[in-house]
Amino acid sequence: MKVTIIGNGNMAKGIATRLIGGGHEVIIHAKDETKGNELAEQLKQVSGDAAVSVAPVGSSASDIVIVATPYGEIANVAQAYNGFEGKVVVDITNPVDFNTFQLIPEPGKSGAEEIANQLPGAKIVKAFNTTFAGTLVSGTVEGQELDVFVASNDQDAKDKVIELVKTSGMRPIDVGPLSESRHLEGFGLIQMKIQDQIGTNWMSALKFIG
Ligand SMILES: NC(=O)c1ccc[n+]([C@@H]2O[C@H](COP(=O)([O-])OP(=O)(O)OC[C@H]3O[C@@H](n4cnc5c(N)ncnc54)[C@H](OP(=O)(O)O)[C@@H]3O)[C@@H](O)[C@H]2O)c1
Repeated sequence: MKVTIIGNGNMAKGIATRLIGGGHEVIIHAKDETKGNELAEQLKQVSGDAAVSVAPVGSSASDIVIVATPYGEIANVAQAYNGFEGKVVVDITNPVDFNTFQLIPEPGKSGAEEIANQLPGAKIVKAFNTTFAGTLVSGTVEGQELDVFVASNDQDAKDKVIELVKTSGMRPIDVGPLSESRHLEGFGLIQMKIQDQIGTNWMSALKFIG
């Protein structure tokens, strides 16, 4: 598949590493072209065959667009990026207020549903918010493949993301409609809060076993 990733930070690197491992084509949309090129170079070192290109944030012919920016930047991304209409848009954000370490959406709501309101016409799929960037780069934790929880109201869009996750060497788990994102975001928050306590230095994974 051809996938656009908006952003060139930790999660862009992690997700792109898995996608190129699955033979997918990745287009990095970077605010700063130099940073985008640096990431593309790193990805080509992972795989010499990697189909990676860099483009300014604008629009894309990809079917799937992964927004790998902070939650608070979505409004700016929506302004700068033309053409979310009809696209499968993957929301990976953890909408956390880092001053209070609490979720930004009010109880019972999710950031994903708020993003769906901000991007009318886009087919929003929540995924990857519980997979830490470093674990995506390594691909496994203690030899186990990563679980990626996926939520959406659009079944076709969700099936596409599930296929993308599976073919990129991870286990997709369909958790239901987009409203379930409120629980995924809660998981994401807890997973962040306990990092010092469990001492795994952001290399733990949330996984169902048995
Ligand atoms: N890190 C994790 O382990 C993890 C795990 C799960 C979910 N998440 C979520 O993933 C998202 C990204 O996290 P991250 O750790 O990758 O953050 P990061 O390393 O800080 O990267 C953020 C990226 O967003 C770009 N960006 C910021 N505003 C933008 C805009 N208006 N238009 C285009 N690009 C913009 C930044 O570009 P510049 O560098 O040029 O500013 C940077 O490349 C967050 O929403 C986070 O909650 C993170």
